[in-house]
Amino acid sequence: MSKKVFLCDDEMPTSWYNVAPDIPNGLQPPLDPETMQPMAPEKLAAIFPMGLLEQEMSPDRHIPIPEEVLEIYKIWRPSPLVRAFKLEQALGTKAKIFFKNEGVSPVGSHKPNSAVAQAYFNMREGVKRLATETGAGQWGSALAMATSMFGLKCKVYMVRVSYDQKPYRKSVMQTFGAEIVPSPSQYTNYGRSVLEQDPDNNGSLGIAISEALEDAVTSENTNYALGSVLNHVILHQTIIGLEAKKQMEIAGESPDVIVGCCGGGSNFAGLAVPFIPDKLEGKNIRLVGVEPASCPTMTEGKFAYDSGDTAGMTPLLQMHTLGHDFMPPGIHAGGLRYHGMAPIVSALVRENLVEPVNVHQLECFEAGVLFAKTEGIIPAPETCHAIRGAIVEATQNLNEPKTILFNFSGHGLIDMAAYDSYFAGELHNYSLPTEQIAESLANLPKVG
Ligand SMILES: Cc1ncc(COP(=O)(O)O)c(C=O)c1O
Repeated sequence: MSKKVFLCDDEMPTSWYNVAPDIPNGLQPPLDPETMQPMAPEKLAAIFPMGLLEQEMSPDRHIPIPEEVLEIYKIWRPSPLVRAFKLEQALGTKAKIFFKNEGVSPVGSHKPNSAVAQAYFNMREGVKRLATETGAGQWGSALAMATSMFGLKCKVYMVRVSYDQKPYRKSVMQTFGAEIVPSPSQYTNYGRSVLEQDPDNNGSLGIAISEALEDAVTSENTNYALGSVLNHVILHQTIIGLEAKKQMEIAGESPDVIVGCCGGGSNFAGLAVPFIPDKLEGKNIRLVGVEPASCPTMTEGKFAYDSGDTAGMTPLLQMHTLGHDFMPPGIHAGGLRYHGMAPIVSALVRENLVEPVNVHQLECFEAGVLFAKTEGIIPAPETCHAIRGAIVEATQNLNEPKTILFNFSGHGLIDMAAYDSYFAGELHNYSLPTEQIAESLANLPKVG
């Protein structure tokens, strides 16, 4: 019988890979929303530690992972690379399907890869408390765990619709000692202003980011932490792809297609970008980023400078965006409800190195259920998007012998309410009216 699970002995990569210097035509700098000039690093130092800011702007390809971070990574890393034989059989495809299982982390997703690093660099510079946002609750859980390990306090603004849909995420964060409030909340000026206009507001990642930022700039000894989008977050997530490269070699395989779901872009990029140097050297590898049809940032948004949050407090980032006040429908894949996309992923789409696709909610749950029945692991609703993307690749031509690698970004054991709604027939697909996207794109900041 062929081997199913591949680990890369005990040797984890000891450096992260920074793709920024390898992106053809490069990245444009973040802009100060007040002056429209490149953001001065001193301004960002009010909310981020220097260690992370250096990574954000680094021209180096390889950045060492601190020993303290590696020690914690060892709890679940290297994560397994698994061949999905039973899924292949069920699909009747000649394609080989591999997945990198990030669901084995203590909180069940890829998010701790960055949370542990961010908590560490903040602790090292004397910060005592972190404020953050969370969509589905995976990032909040990861940061709650990481801050508890380094003795920091943590406050999480959780998007209201997910706060109501996923009560056990709250319990996870509470167990680690974090404070959690639904966003929009009464705790910030911005949250109160949103609630005044719309007391039933579902919340969005953009609003929750504004609240967490306001908390960080107005509270003592508090920094802000973001779970996706930024260069340093993607840097930390490259441990996934670096391990996967070694493991594919051990398996004697090489991927033809790499697939990941995209919210802010960090798990997809974490798996995919370590393969960019091979692609630039001429290797034929396709990188496919899968987003929800209800929040089609890369496939229907604009590549432009925009704010990362709804209140317009963050630096302006050059990225694919649906407009910072875009309000996505309340789909269960809460981690994919973000108006923007990481500048790194956006630049790779611009250079035609990444292919974006969008998929509907119902076909994703169908894919997730098939995966659970064949491979035995229940995926998070976000992860179902990657599985759907991999199934599309594997079934376009059932006789094509290609090798597909996808990122299993998290398990769904705390998302069972979403499956209940799916089985009860209560979920439906959302098609966004083009006018809704045009309306929010009309409010993009005017950059020279
Ligand atoms: C399980 C899971 N997968 C994917 C994502 C999407 O985030 P990103 O695109 O940054 O990986 C999230 C975000 O919360 C998530 O929880």
